[in-house]
Amino acid sequence: MRDLDNKVVVVTGAAGGIGTAICRRFVDAGARVVAVDKDEDALQRLAEALRPLNAQLALLPLDITNHERVVSRIGSIAESLGGIDALVNNAGWDLPVQFLESSPEFWNKVIAINLVGPLNLHHAVLPHMISRGGGMVVNIASDAGRVGSSGEAVYSACKGGIIAFTKTIARECANHNIRVNTVCPGPTDTALLQLFGGDGEYGKKLYEGLKRAIPLKRLGKPEDVAGIVVFLSSPEAGFITGQTISVSGGLTMHG
Ligand SMILES: NC(=O)c1ccc[n+]([C@@H]2O[C@H](COP(=O)([O-])OP(=O)(O)OC[C@H]3O[C@@H](n4cnc5c(N)ncnc54)[C@H](O)[C@@H]3O)[C@@H](O)[C@H]2O)c1
Repeated sequence: MRDLDNKVVVVTGAAGGIGTAICRRFVDAGARVVAVDKDEDALQRLAEALRPLNAQLALLPLDITNHERVVSRIGSIAESLGGIDALVNNAGWDLPVQFLESSPEFWNKVIAINLVGPLNLHHAVLPHMISRGGGMVVNIASDAGRVGSSGEAVYSACKGGIIAFTKTIARECANHNIRVNTVCPGPTDTALLQLFGGDGEYGKKLYEGLKRAIPLKRLGKPEDVAGIVVFLSSPEAGFITGQTISVSGGLTMHG
């Protein structure tokens, strides 16, 4: 698929597991990728990993929770690259904890990264898309936001919020030719999942249990998520908006 030639795509959480796979698929499709992440060292590793295609990559170290900086940095990028065609809100974070054992400080951090961060990016990017007559947004939520997930109450609330927010923005922006969709990964083999299970005995049991429960009998790979994200950002998905799509090996099935 080369129909994203020279399109400018902003990807947050770009240096993480799923983010790296998404960036790789976009540069393979000919897009110019603005890789946003708060981890500068990981961004450098991303650039190394994407050689020799990293000329298509602009690294943007940025904390998505800071509205003022997000608006100003995105504004500079839109000006220097001549606009923004697509946005992928992929950055996310959580730690497993029972709700009654969690603190308001922890809730605030989870909400800032998983809910407020994507709102900041929409606020910064949508005006540039509107002024150019269109664009695409893909929000990475989670099946936790569709069916719940023990130990992830506040994260699930944020991801469910992102699903509802996506549908509303899809309606508000349809007349500006902007499509907005949500992708919900199931358990996917990345650093975030490692945070959840750890690499000890508990983690091993958790991952084996998940594999047994998943109809396709394996954990997701970051590449499993990347394909649908690039498809939804492409002209081939030109009549798809406001949708929520799970990539979970059949763990969750929705009508
Ligand atoms: N891995 C899974 O099992 C799974 C399941 C469902 C949903 N998801 C979602 O997929 C997305 C990607 O997760 P992943 O598994 O690749 O995790 P990851 O930990 O590998 O990557 C997340 C990236 O987000 C970045 N990030 C975190 N906070 C940030 C901030 N404030 N500003 C900028 N960057 C920030 C991190 O530095 C990291 O590079 C997340 O939204 C996550 O909630 C993952």
